[in-house]
Amino acid sequence: MPTSSSESHAPGIGGLGYVLLQAVDLEAWRGFGTGVVGAMEVAMPRQCLGLKIDEHPYRVLVTQGDADRLLAMGWDMRSAQNLAAMRARLESKGLEILERSPEEASLRCVESLFAVKDPLGNDVEFYHGRTGCGGAFASPIGVPGFVTEGMGLGHLVLAAAGAEQAAYTFYRDTLGLGDSDTLTLPPMAEGYPPIQVNFLHADNPRHHSLALCNLPSPSGVMHLMVELPSVDEVGRCHDRTLAGGWGLMASLGRHCNDNMFSFYVKGPGGITLEIGSEGRQVDWSTVEPTVSTIPDYWGHAYQF
Ligand SMILES: [Fe+2]
Repeated sequence: MPTSSSESHAPGIGGLGYVLLQAVDLEAWRGFGTGVVGAMEVAMPRQCLGLKIDEHPYRVLVTQGDADRLLAMGWDMRSAQNLAAMRARLESKGLEILERSPEEASLRCVESLFAVKDPLGNDVEFYHGRTGCGGAFASPIGVPGFVTEGMGLGHLVLAAAGAEQAAYTFYRDTLGLGDSDTLTLPPMAEGYPPIQVNFLHADNPRHHSLALCNLPSPSGVMHLMVELPSVDEVGRCHDRTLAGGWGLMASLGRHCNDNMFSFYVKGPGGITLEIGSEGRQVDWSTVEPTVSTIPDYWGHAYQF
């Protein structure tokens, strides 16, 4: 059912441009990213793995480290003007701006960027001018492509246990992402609170580019979703997942709110990827955010 729409949806956050992960086992990511997901490995400095899924230089960068965790997310501001406006907006709200070095900009293949911390401790980066775009995507295993055009890499769901309200306020009111849906589910077990997920969209048709869940995860990530062009491609990826011995976090199913046909695989280091297709694309000028209590039309049996 519709709710009152967020007053704060600021045009300008174009989409989720990249995600930076840290991983203990870079080789596992290399095998999983290229052999299961079908991404293309791109040349990067030592101890970094760039995974390319479209014309961008990469969408996921994995850096070797001592823990498996989210390092940063990068929001595409689409122009220097929008980037400056976001910087001014965040400064006016009293946030500390974290400067990035030219080397860090170069590693991210962007002209300019800055960062702030979210209430969960994540680095939230804003950039414009992704350089090195336009190179053709050629999957090593024949995946025809990923659905990213005009909508960013996919969506990221953050583990926000204990700070879910602060995180929601930050991403919606401070940053200006728009409400898409609020999902409430019964507790997983007696004595636990109901599960709540806030789904937020950027200024593009993807149903949500970010979501916040009131559950914990050591990596900071509940899951990262990438979208394939057909349910058959999801099925083929599902075959590769099982053949490779990767565990499922959820079986095949279809979500109600974004219509995504997908499954969830526990990737390297326990970081879960949702592999989906047929995600809903929304005209936010005519569609109101929703409140829901049913997550799936069918499937998605979770195995925590
Ligand atoms: Fe998802």
